[in-house]
Amino acid sequence: NVRKPFVAGNWKMNGNLALVAEFNQKLAGLKAKAEVVVCAPSLLLHAFETDSFSIGTQNVSHLDNGAHTGELSVDLLKEAGCSYAIVGHSERREDQGESSELVALKAKKCVAAGIVPIICVGEPLDVREAGEVEAFVGEQLDALVDKMSIEELSKTVIAYEPIWAIGTGKTASPEQAQEVHEFIRTYFSKVDATLAQSLRILYGGSVKPDNAETLFAQKDVDGGLIGGASLKAEDFISICQAAN
Ligand code: G3H
Repeated sequence: NVRKPFVAGNWKMNGNLALVAEFNQKLAGLKAKAEVVVCAPSLLLHAFETDSFSIGTQNVSHLDNGAHTGELSVDLLKEAGCSYAIVGHSERREDQGESSELVALKAKKCVAAGIVPIICVGEPLDVREAGEVEAFVGEQLDALVDKMSIEELSKTVIAYEPIWAIGTGKTASPEQAQEVHEFIRTYFSKVDATLAQSLRILYGGSVKPDNAETLFAQKDVDGGLIGGASLKAEDFISICQAAN
């Protein structure tokens, strides 16, 4: 496999300095084939000691430093030690009304600063039930291809997260996940064959220690974006080790 497996934890608006200290201790010297990232709330990033994993943020501004109250720039995040940034998580697309175009601008800004964006796509339940997953996800991808060059896209990671599987305990079946991952890879193969082969596509949505291995074993699933289970060090470690 040309693609190194990848597991990212998304703590969302959870965690505290005590959890960071626990992760520093329990993940020290972690042996995993996967590249491991913890995306914690930005105010916690300074406290991580990361010999075996990298740190990321959960959002970023598409703008340069300046008069943008409450925003965090790629420069600030870079200085804080961030190598990754989640962009376009469905919770932000919903709660903050982020459009696919804005998500693409954020991803582009990350790449320019040397931060790898983990770009989230995925459909709500009604779209799946209407049989329109590919059209829906395809439109989210169109915005990326519209704003980013092949070289920029090659410095990203994509996360497919069906919204109905997030935090619900309802995981997509390995077949359902593979089907959409294959669609995404095929989509990018029409842009550039090499890009499609090297692009890492993560699955997110109720990944747990007991289902991670089967999901990650799918041909086009290169790892996972883990929410709830990334808040427990033991569970997160076992998920990281399931990616190989
Ligand atoms: O970013 C992570 C996803 O939203 C998945 O969350 O593992 O709690 O379902 P979950």
